[in-house]
This record gives sequence, structure tokens and C-alpha cells, in this order.
Amino acid sequence: MIADDVLTKIRFEKAGATLGARVHGVPLNQATTPAITAQLRQGLHEHGVLFFEFGETVKSEQQTAFTRLFGELEVYRFSTSDEKPTEEKNATGCIDAIAQPMRQYRTNMWHTDGTPFEHPPQAAILTALEAPKLGGGTMWSCMYAAYEDLSSHYQHLLDGLEVLHTTKRTPFVKQYAETVHPAVIRDPVTGKRALFVNSVYSERFLGMSDRESDSLMQFLFEHVNTPEFHVSLTWQQGTVAVWEERVTQHRAIDSFVGPRKLRRMTVRGDRPAA
Ligand SMILES: [Fe+2]
Repeated sequence: MIADDVLTKIRFEKAGATLGARVHGVPLNQATTPAITAQLRQGLHEHGVLFFEFGETVKSEQQTAFTRLFGELEVYRFSTSDEKPTEEKNATGCIDAIAQPMRQYRTNMWHTDGTPFEHPPQAAILTALEAPKLGGGTMWSCMYAAYEDLSSHYQHLLDGLEVLHTTKRTPFVKQYAETVHPAVIRDPVTGKRALFVNSVYSERFLGMSDRESDSLMQFLFEHVNTPEFHVSLTWQQGTVAVWEERVTQHRAIDSFVGPRKLRRMTVRGDRPAA
């Protein structure tokens, strides 16, 4: 009975012309059913990023339960300390933009989280613990649109390429990681292709000279920065953003007033496939 009531009330309102939707009708502490979860997961893959406004600061245990609507909670693997990561640490992990300056941690550069791993996270869930008084928003770029906007010649070239992803440019991450992924992946839910090259972790195209690889990388990094592919969010207390990692990229805006503290959780993913 609860399921039917809630199901009829869920509404996805587009937040941007290309990606993003505000979700209405999902209360924070609502009991959910497989039907509701399926609708939210489908919406996530279609819209790329979902925004929820709960009007109150979301507690850690509430965010943990909310994260589980989208998949299995993942231990945060990019530790910046020698401390062993645990699921509890993930659940209370805090991104403090003053303690961890964005330019140093490269959070203000376009990226997909964890791509140097064989199994990068499938989704991330961020909520404001202390929203900045001004600025400090987060932006997302749609990788479906980035792929579709390319000419068929570039699409054909990229469809056959593989990319090495490394932590070389993130020395604050304690453990080195590298792996190879396709340059273009196919989302298993929508069936759409998405560009899978990002400016923080993508190191080089395999089978190309340095000059060829560098110039194609640079072109794609600039391509991801096309405003028509973007949506942005201004943080408020109680805002939750959920994004599908593989079909979007994100970056923070390193211009804000006051504290900016966000709590981040991730959902376990499998190996991205072409
Ligand atoms: Fe990130």
C-alpha cells in the first residue's frame, strides 16, 4: 500500500536541458519497495544526476540507508591517510573544502571518481553538512551528450580505443592504482554510449604516439567543458545529489564564502564495458 502511494507521487523534474533532474515525492525516511528503487535507479541512468531537497541536515545513518537505494555501499578506497578505510569511515567521510583545498585535491577539475580502479564506483551520493554561504557549488557534465556531439569520424576513432587511467596526478592518494578502460562505454540500463575520458585520471590512449595521445586527450578535456553539456547545483542544508559516475563527470567550484563541508558515499560498481 505504501509502495503504490509513493510510486504515484515520484516525479522527475528536469533540472537542466541536457542532464539532471529534481526528484519529488521521495521522503528521506520513507519505507521503499523494489518498484520504487527500480524507478529511482532507472531515473539515475537516464538523467545522470538526481537532486533531492529534504529541508534538514541528513544524518549519516539516513544517508547510508538512502545510498543503499541505489546499490551496495562501497568502502572509500582513495584514502589520503594511512588509516585503513572501513565502511563506517565511508559512512562518515567528510569533504572539507577548507581543510582539503580544491586546487590541491583536484576536486575543481572535471573527473569521474575512481577510474584508476578496475571497478570504479557506479554512483556517488553527496549531501551538505555545512553549505557555503555563497558559491562553492558542484557541476556535472553529461557524457552521453559529449559522445553524441562528436562527429561520426571522432566517434568511430574513439569507439576502438582504450585509455590508461592512473593516480599519477593525484599524489595525495596514498595507494598508487592504474588500469585500462574503453574510451567509450555503454550504459547497461539506457544502452547509450558515453565518453569515458577524464582530466584527473586519464593518462594516455594505448597504441598512439605521445603527440597523438596528448593532443586527443587535450581536445576531449576541453570538449567535456562545453557549457551545453552541464548542470550545476547550489548547496543548501538537506540537499542530496546522487550521480551515475560513468555517464557523467563532476567538479566543484573553488569560489565560496564560509565553511563548505559535504558528506560523500559511493555505490560499488562493476567493470565499465564498451
Ligand atoms: Fe569526485
